[in-house]
Amino acid sequence: MHAALQIKSLKTARALAMFIFIFLPLWTLLVMGREEGGVGSEEGVGKQCHPSLPPRCPSRSPSDQPWTHPDQSQLFADLSQEELTAVMSFLTQKLGPDLVDARQAQPSDNCVFSVELQLPPKAAALAHLDRGSPPPAREALAIVFFGGQPQPNVTELVVGPLPQPSYMRDVTVEHHGGPLPYHRCPVLLLESLDIDQMIFDRELPQAAGVLHHCCSYKQGGRNLVILTTAPCGVQSGDRATWFGLYYNISGARIYLHPVGLELLIHHKALDPAQWTIQKVFFQGHYYKSLAQLEEQFEAGQVNVVVIPDNGTGWLT
Ligand SMILES: *[C@@H]1O[C@H](CO)[C@@H](O)[C@H](O)[C@H]1NC(C)=O
Ligand SMILES: *[C@@H]1O[C@H](CO)[C@@H](O)[C@H](O)[C@H]1NC(C)=O
Ligand SMILES: *[C@@H]1O[C@H](CO)[C@@H](O)[C@H](O)[C@H]1NC(C)=O
Repeated sequence: MHAALQIKSLKTARALAMFIFIFLPLWTLLVMGREEGGVGSEEGVGKQCHPSLPPRCPSRSPSDQPWTHPDQSQLFADLSQEELTAVMSFLTQKLGPDLVDARQAQPSDNCVFSVELQLPPKAAALAHLDRGSPPPAREALAIVFFGGQPQPNVTELVVGPLPQPSYMRDVTVEHHGGPLPYHRCPVLLLESLDIDQMIFDRELPQAAGVLHHCCSYKQGGRNLVILTTAPCGVQSGDRATWFGLYYNISGARIYLHPVGLELLIHHKALDPAQWTIQKVFFQGHYYKSLAQLEEQFEAGQVNVVVIPDNGTGWLT
């Protein structure tokens, strides 16, 4: 009885704590948002100051309110378009002509993956905010993929001072305790297109018979699509991803229509021509390759389930 009561009061206390931690800050934010919105302009104030809602009207002038001070918020403001452009042209100039636009980059190219604000060191930020010291230099953090060198890597560069950068500093080891191996970079746009091409142009034709039987496959037809899965491996150093095949049914979500075929693609090599299929999963069984699946199908050893090429087939 006593224990039950304790548990009950514990639960109540937890619920209360949750309320305080989750809802109060949200409520405060909402109210602050309203006030900030209101103090932005005289017109806004006029609209917000409805006689029935007096507590929401700002009672002080904008400059009294620390969180709306433009100079201070500038310290943590995202990079502006001009600053992003300045960083990109600085990097282009420093990293040489090998830099390729990220949308067009092959794994074997150098490209800038991202540029964002590098937050100032806390001590320098506080010295400025609390004690009026000069503001710390505004800096950007750029993540660069160096695929076009004998030992490819991922590098983090701090670029500053903005808006006219004159220096860049390699902070990879400082941030990660060592070099960042290249296989850790996310799949690039062109890389995913190359995987698509590899599957449809090079691999699926090797199992044309069984795929035609189960899934109305025709070479060059577009009734099948691939969907990626995560993660890209099971241990450090892997860059191998399972792709599932689905019917491309217009107007319906393709992930509702798997055909029971999945391919494990090994895509760590920088040259797509060297990528391979490590394993094939077809309707409950594993195969070494699509060629082996086709061989066993032709020998009558594969029990194929025919999947209707129309999503409604599953429901009716
Ligand atoms: C990664 O490559 C860049 C560009 O070549 C180089 O400056 C940097 O030293 C390399 N990082 C490591 C840890 O080798
Ligand atoms: C899916 O099918 C539509 C036509 O229904 C076609 O336009 C589209 O290219 C196909 N998508 C893929 C990835 O093949
Ligand atoms: C699926 O079958 C129904 C009924 O036969 C037909 O009306 C519909 O057009 C088909 N849908 C597709 C995507 O083939």
